[in-house]
Order: sequence, then C-alpha cells, then structure tokens
Amino acid sequence: MPTSPTALPAGLTLGSLRVDTPVVLAPMAGITNAAYRRLCAEQGAGLYVCEMITSRGLVEGDQHTRDMLVFDELETTRSVQLYGTDPVYVGKAAEILCAEYGVAHIDLNFGCPVPKVTRKGGGGALPWKRGLLGEILEHAVAAAAPYDVPVTMKTRKGIDDDHLTYLDAGRIAQESGVAAIALHGRTVAQAYSGAADWDAIAALVDHVDIPVLGNGDIWEASDAVRMVEQTGAAGVVVGRGCLGRPWIFRDLATAFRGEAPVDGFRATLPTLGEVTSMMRRHAELLCQHLGEERGCKEFRKHVSWYLKGFAAGGELRRSLGLVDTLATLDRLLADLDPTEPFPIAELGSPRGRQGSPRGRVALPEGWLDDTDGSGSHLQEEAGETTGG
Ligand SMILES: Cc1cc2nc3c(=O)[nH]c(=O)nc-3n(C[C@H](O)[C@H](O)[C@H](O)COP(=O)(O)O)c2cc1C
Repeated sequence: MPTSPTALPAGLTLGSLRVDTPVVLAPMAGITNAAYRRLCAEQGAGLYVCEMITSRGLVEGDQHTRDMLVFDELETTRSVQLYGTDPVYVGKAAEILCAEYGVAHIDLNFGCPVPKVTRKGGGGALPWKRGLLGEILEHAVAAAAPYDVPVTMKTRKGIDDDHLTYLDAGRIAQESGVAAIALHGRTVAQAYSGAADWDAIAALVDHVDIPVLGNGDIWEASDAVRMVEQTGAAGVVVGRGCLGRPWIFRDLATAFRGEAPVDGFRATLPTLGEVTSMMRRHAELLCQHLGEERGCKEFRKHVSWYLKGFAAGGELRRSLGLVDTLATLDRLLADLDPTEPFPIAELGSPRGRQGSPRGRVALPEGWLDDTDGSGSHLQEEAGETTGG
C-alpha cells in the first residue's frame, strides 16, 4: 500500500545501522570516491556509498582495488559496494571490509548491465541463477554478521521483460538475512534508456518484508517524495540526479523532514556563483585525496554537469575540461558571471548517461536454460570496475 504524504519515513534502518534520512547516494564507478561522498555529505544526512570494488581484487590484494578503499576523515559511516560472483570470495572480501576497513555497511552489486560483465554471468545477469545468488548473499551475511554489519543488495528488474528476476531476488535476499534490497526499475536490456518502472518497486515492496529502496529517475527532491508515496519504498537511491548537483542531498534531507517549500526549492536554487563555489570545493577535496594533478584530472568529467544549462561559453568550458591546477581552475571560474540565476529549464530533466536499449543481453552460453546455478564457478576478473 502506498504511504500517505504525511507518513514519509523519517530515517532508514538497515540492520544495526540507522541513517537520519532515507536517502542513499547510488554507488557510481568513477564518481562516488571519498571526495564526492564528503561533498555530498556536507549537504545533508544520507548514506554515501563508495564506488564498487571487486571481491577478487580485494582478496588478492590488488593495488587499484585497495586504492579505491579510501575514506574521508569525517566519514564516520563507511559504506562500500562489493561486486562478486563467487560466494567464497565475496565472503572473504566482506570479512576484510569489516575487519580491516571498519565498514558499517556492505552493498552487493547485482545490477551491472555492461556486456563484458553480463557475458560472464555477473552483474544484472546473476540473479537469474537463484541458487547461486542465495549462496553469495549467505556468505556475505555470514561474514559480516559477527561485526554486526548489515549487508544489502542492489539489482535491476531482470535481464529483460521476458526474464524478470527481482521478485525472486527479493525473497532470496530476505531468506538470506539481507537487510534491504535496492531496486533500479529497469532491466539489463534497457541499460539506462526509457523510464524507470516505479510500479516494479511497489510490487517488490508488496512482495517482501525487508526494506525496499527505490532507484531510478530521481532528478529532484520532489521525485524522491513521489517515489516513496507511490511505491511505499523505505527510502531512495539517487544516482545521476546528483551529478553536478550535490545540493540535491540538502533538498532531499529537507523534503524528508516534511519541510519541502511550496515552490519546490526554487528559491534556494544556487546562482552560478554558488555553483562555482561548489565546483571549487569539489576540486579541492579531490586534490586533497588524490593530489593536485590526479584530482584536477578527475574533476574534469564533472565540469559539464555543473554547468549544464548555464550560459558559459564553449571556449571556457573547453578550458575547464582541461584544467590541471587549482590556480587555473580559480582563474577560469572567475570568468563566469556569479549572479547568473540557475537555469530553471534544467529542473527535472535527465542528466548523465542515458544510452539506448540493448537488442540482446550478452550472456554465457545456455545461461537461461537453468535458473539455479548453485555451486557454479563463474569467470571473474580482479580489476572489474565498470559499475552498474
Ligand atoms: C557513471 C555511473 C556509474 C555507475 N556505477 C555503478 C556501480 O558501480 N554500482 C551500481 O550498483 N550501480 C552503478 N550505477 C547505477 C546507479 O547506481 C543507479 O542504479 C542508476 O544510475 C539508476 O539510478 P538514477 O536514475 O538515480 O541514476 C552507475 C551509474 C552511473 C551513471
């Protein structure tokens, strides 16, 4: 049953973990590093999940994997997304995260649509093998339980419309002791195209007793409230909607306190001057964590998201896209008109990757013939970083 507008969840409970607002930053490979998580957390309460790391990479001591497991000094709730297809590796990786990294939350990725991942039966293809999914979840939960660390899973509706997996995945998650399930309302075949199916989120809420987190197409705080009202989800997971707009977490925290202004936050929209301050802060945090050269390089990908809809000229945008020092960044940002108002037309519009649907999802030979897969060993690389 959808909840009434007056019954917005005040927070989120994942096992022993209490989050003050029912909002999760979606794990995004190449985006949700320590600097970005800190930037978002400065805006408001929420659960800020680290970029996905692979179980094998962690267990085998892969340097790149270890380098990604960096936390900001103010990050008191360490939350990490793990990828893995082998129950033993996933269990060992969960143990390492709890014992050596002091994490407070582990999320498992079963939603990645990237062909090189699904071709091996990983990511969004894996929940088709119900038995194997259960084994992976049970190993992770068993490893994290002694540390009282909740394990959640994140998945999609299924491989395609004819091969849906999310309701079974919800049941298996619940039976395995998983603390919550996040559902991105698209199939693997859809990748990021079309509209997220919030009815599927509502169906999953009806199907399981554990908290369901709704994910897909939250572009404004009002979308998050609408999703929760329409689906009865216990909380929301926000991905592309925060790209170049970390202040959405401030709006979300306000909205879930039941204090959303009637103008839908228009009065608090940042001017270009406020956006450039946010850009500067983001770049500064990246440089603190990665050093100035790598930090500036990482920052480049965010420039077009921050400036989307603003009047900044092509030449300036190009220069910002090549920025290599904080001093250059300051000089370039000073050329922007700080009084320019936020481009209202951007509100509610999609940002980040959208792409087109896949004709056919790449799967291992004969993958669909059997729905169990218990005890099977899938090929998995240590350095898989393609995300979800
Ligand atoms: C750049 C990018 C990287 C992503 N990486 C991951 C990832 O590592 N793990 C994951 O579960 N999902 C990943 N996703 C998917 C998001 O977490 C989210 O499920 C998806 O974007 C839908 O939510 P949205 O409509 O709020 O963006 C990624 C998405 C984007 C755009």
